[in-house]
Amino acid sequence: MHIAIIYATVEGQTRTIATHIEAYLADSGHSTQVIDATHPPDAFAIDAIDGVICLGPVHIGTFPAPLRRFVRTHMRELMARPGAFISVSLTAAGGDAEEMAELAEIATAFSEETGWWPVAVHHAAGALKYTEYDYFRRWMMRRIADKHHASTDTKHDHEFTDWGELDLFIDGFLRDLPAVAGKI
Ligand SMILES: Cc1cc2nc3c(=O)[nH]c(=O)nc-3n(C[C@H](O)[C@H](O)[C@H](O)COP(=O)(O)O)c2cc1C
Repeated sequence: MHIAIIYATVEGQTRTIATHIEAYLADSGHSTQVIDATHPPDAFAIDAIDGVICLGPVHIGTFPAPLRRFVRTHMRELMARPGAFISVSLTAAGGDAEEMAELAEIATAFSEETGWWPVAVHHAAGALKYTEYDYFRRWMMRRIADKHHASTDTKHDHEFTDWGELDLFIDGFLRDLPAVAGKI
């Protein structure tokens, strides 16, 4: 199958996840077209695509504007194929039920705004890149991390992404894709 991987990132972790999925799909015999929504290609050849995997990081309760813009612009083409959405956040690292419900609401707000409704949503834990933040951001993220019981050791970066869980989600999406495709 040929899968479009559409992402935006602010600190780089979502790009790392998109690159991982690209390699994972290649290992499974699939081809991909990777699109950084912040620098979209002039033409988007949707005809050749069997499915869509869209990824975005939660930053202050929403997803990056370039991703929202790209998905909104191409909503009709994207909706014609089965799609999976991967929301990347710090909240997902904690797994608290109330906070996971808030994450679900943030993902729903993304679909309401863009008009793109994926058939599957995965909440992946992201990373804390303390060493790359400026003073204010490091201070702010340390406070948020403390609230979520994540590491407040600002001398090091911390990655929370569960790669095995992510691969299982991709496996499930690919397995269900042919059956779902006919129903959209
Ligand atoms: C300025 C800033 C705001 C953030 N806001 C949230 C938030 O509202 N909720 C959350 O769960 N995580 C939040 N995070 C954590 C990010 O989602 C996490 O660091 C993710 O890995 C960032 O992905 P990226 O590297 O692709 O930008 C925030 C991170 C930063 C730096």
